[in-house]
Amino acid sequence: MANKIEIKYNGESFELPVMTGSENESAIDIGKLRSMTGLVTLDYGYKNTGSTTSEITFLDGEKGILRYRGYPIEQLAEKADFLEVAYLLIYGELPTKEEYEKWTRDITHHTLIHEDFRTIFEGFPSNAHPMGVLSSLVTSLTAFYPKSLDPERSMGELNMSIVRLIAKLPTMAAWAYKNELGFPLNYPDNAMSYVDNFLYMMFALPVEKYKVNPVISRALNKLLILHADHEQNCSASTVRLVGSSHASLYVSISAGINALWGPLHGGANQAVIEMLEEIIEDGGDIDKYIKKAKDKNDPFRLMGFGHRVYKNFDPRARIIKQSADEVLSALGVEDPVLEVAKKIEKIALEDEYFIQRKLYPNVDFYSGIIYRALGIPTEMFTVMFALGRLPGWIAQWLENRKNGEPIGRPRQIYTGVNERDYIPLENR
Ligand SMILES: CC(C)(COP(=O)(O)OP(=O)(O)OC[C@H]1O[C@@H](n2cnc3c(N)ncnc32)[C@H](O)[C@@H]1OP(=O)(O)O)[C@@H](O)C(=O)NCCC(=O)NCCS
Repeated sequence: MANKIEIKYNGESFELPVMTGSENESAIDIGKLRSMTGLVTLDYGYKNTGSTTSEITFLDGEKGILRYRGYPIEQLAEKADFLEVAYLLIYGELPTKEEYEKWTRDITHHTLIHEDFRTIFEGFPSNAHPMGVLSSLVTSLTAFYPKSLDPERSMGELNMSIVRLIAKLPTMAAWAYKNELGFPLNYPDNAMSYVDNFLYMMFALPVEKYKVNPVISRALNKLLILHADHEQNCSASTVRLVGSSHASLYVSISAGINALWGPLHGGANQAVIEMLEEIIEDGGDIDKYIKKAKDKNDPFRLMGFGHRVYKNFDPRARIIKQSADEVLSALGVEDPVLEVAKKIEKIALEDEYFIQRKLYPNVDFYSGIIYRALGIPTEMFTVMFALGRLPGWIAQWLENRKNGEPIGRPRQIYTGVNERDYIPLENR
């Protein structure tokens, strides 16, 4: 494979290096393009731009491959637990038994949040969106742990920030949920596993005994693993960009939460349920909506179908479909929304339009269904995504800092008005 590329501009010829990654993906290194030619590149949405080199996640959308640190997502979802995967993403290797025990012990012992957080919660109106609450709370961690503001201070301090984040985010998320409902807040129970403890804080009420259903716990563990990283997506890129200004870990993660909030990113699973509700409200005529989705003159699209990167199948959707089936049958939920989802899935998978265009249900289709079956309200769906994505964001932030990457600062092509003279107010 050639390791340089020649470009011709204004009658001159220039050579730029081509670099190749460990999975043979190649890129033109344009670092010297401007100094050589005066040109910059223009790429809206960075669709064709590698912003960094990374050792964390490999994704091949054509082949439906997703690997964290080399391990196939299928194996991790089947065999690992979420904290193990979090360790793998952040520190680069699966933990040894001793490392795993210390890691889980450290996280378990930091699940409590400072009592003053209760006052902060009380300050939010009860209808506050939980994503807004979550990002504010993560930023406010800097007030409680000011040493975290200086990530260069020591690796020990940075590790503490990492542990605190992973430990406390589920508590904050569950409290945001309880606050919205006006229910009493549950304190973490250190005797429980990470996932069980989160379910307990979300669903236990003082008035009745709560027992974690292992089917739900397994499904949630898988969902968190499947969402744990997805290379340079919008929120991961945000975390890296904010971190590149040497902003601290907490505020960078808070920025990632805000980026995830948008309906084009983490909000898609919510859109799936909203679409299903709309179909029911409109009389439940599924064929009508399938026709609408196929009609080029109709902007309607089947939410939860298709993917920008995965053009054959989304490996995460395959795994989570099985969990969705298990959860629905274990819980025996009867819900018209879920019935419509199952019918749409069946019809679309057999329909020529969807088959030809390789439009399969994506991870958001099934995760939306599972969250709904678990009784999680739709505006909490993106919070669930954030809980899963947290280790990926941390890993991306750390890598950016360890690589000593420069501050992120894209260029632009100015298309505005050329120089003109100021006109005094009375003359305008
Ligand atoms: C994810 C998504 C944005 C990818 O879009 P994309 O990469 O631009 O896909 P394309 O526009 O190349 O789609 C290819 C064809 O499939 C059609 N198509 C894609 N997704 C479709 C959907 N969800 N429903 C109906 N038709 C769809 C397009 O109209 C296009 O048809 P054409 O070839 O006849 O013009 C798109 O599939 C979509 O909007 N899905 C629904 C939203 C969703 O679930 N988002 C979450 C993604 S994780």
